[in-house]
Amino acid sequence: MIKRVIGSGLVFLSATAIFTATAQQETPTPEQLANSATETRQAVFKLLSFNMSTISGMARGTIEFDAAIAERNANRIAALAPMIPEVFAANDTREFAVETEALPIIWDRMDEFSEKAANLVAAANTFAEVARGGDRAATIGAVRAFGGTCGNCHETFRVD
Ligand code: HEC
Repeated sequence: MIKRVIGSGLVFLSATAIFTATAQQETPTPEQLANSATETRQAVFKLLSFNMSTISGMARGTIEFDAAIAERNANRIAALAPMIPEVFAANDTREFAVETEALPIIWDRMDEFSEKAANLVAAANTFAEVARGGDRAATIGAVRAFGGTCGNCHETFRVD
């Protein structure tokens, strides 16, 4: 019993220490925030790409066709894509020396940029519906239109 009380006291103390240490950390500089926002958006794209690569692999025949996985990954993409304009809008990194392939015009044309992300969401939902039908030919046939919405944004808003 006593041991347990001492034990939980220690847990409490170390939790307090961590909290205090965190609270005392300096607020991040604008440069640090810009770097962090850049890493976050690139992470979103990495996750989009991770999920899309399985679907394009099925289309190329390098990955075994599985309608349920195709549908699942398309649903993930539909869930992730709204984060694209969110992260870009939250932090305009144009003034900072971040390592990026994002073109500065994104922040001048945020409506158009958001629309392209919305197109990806719509295409992902459409594709997921086709995949839900379970038909291999129909699903593979729908991959190009789906993947095209990625390239459609890169064409305008990403370094070549
Ligand atoms: C609304 C515009 C838009 C859409 C839609 C979009 N991208 Fe991108 N993508 C970008 C921009 C801008 C960058 C550059 C980000 C940076 O370097 O800061 C990028 C970067 C990437 C990267 C490089 C990430 C890294 O490691 O730095 C990959 C991979 C990628 N996109 C894949 C995809 C895939 C796959 C899709 C579709 C499922 C997609 N993108 C849809 C705009 C878009």
